[in-house]
Amino acid sequence: MNDEQLQFFQNWFRHHILTFREPDPLHQRSLDMKEEHTFRVCAASARIGAGLGLSENDHRIAAVTALFHDLGRFPQYQKYRTFRDPDSENHAKLSLWELNRYHVLQTLGVAERQIIRRAIFFHNRLRIPEHLDPPTLLHCRLIRDADKVDILQIMAGHFQMEESRRNPVITLGLGTDTLVRDEVFRLLFEGRAMSYAKLKTTNEFKVLQMSWVFDINFQPTFAILKERNDIGKLAATLPDSPLLRKALDFVNGYIEKHLKDQPKNGSWTE
Ligand SMILES: [Fe+2]
Repeated sequence: MNDEQLQFFQNWFRHHILTFREPDPLHQRSLDMKEEHTFRVCAASARIGAGLGLSENDHRIAAVTALFHDLGRFPQYQKYRTFRDPDSENHAKLSLWELNRYHVLQTLGVAERQIIRRAIFFHNRLRIPEHLDPPTLLHCRLIRDADKVDILQIMAGHFQMEESRRNPVITLGLGTDTLVRDEVFRLLFEGRAMSYAKLKTTNEFKVLQMSWVFDINFQPTFAILKERNDIGKLAATLPDSPLLRKALDFVNGYIEKHLKDQPKNGSWTE
């Protein structure tokens, strides 16, 4: 991919999302939120990529993946008025559908196109499949890391805001009961990213987001998490308890441990 192609994709994205403009400012705000998220994910991905010492070409592939990963959010909201995939469609699939429909990636070679398509397809899965080829695996991991650091920042900001100013499309229709069941904390201590399926309340959703740290792939991403402390900010909006403090220590300990990791063979991409 060359720079002109990357610029074409960036221009195409800016023009294309204008076609989804909403007359109602409330609806437009939901779309603006996704546009802003996209550009922040692009920035996070570029920063993580720089920390990994990626090649120029991998930088461009990562930039296009980040730019289009949530493209499907625009038709999703237009058609269903929600960002909840279970109530509508898988938004990653919608992103690919939209790219196909307008033949956006057609100037790219087959290999690059497939890496971008797969990274978008797997960006919102609980886990990525084993046995992906190394370049696809790299870009899948990179978009997932960049997406998570931004969603954590959005969530921390959202829950720090007073309730009347919060945008209801962000929380996923979960109960407002403040209870976090012990079993949700127990799942966190298993040290794996949790599934949405077992959640009952918004506060349990915050604990789920704390568990995302176990799915982070790269040392530069851990550095961003530590610097921004969005997990700490999110935890501060939960009812204080010994179990919560233990959970936060567990998560922060995990971040510290992985900050000390060194890349194998001098490069993260091998
Ligand atoms: Fe997404």
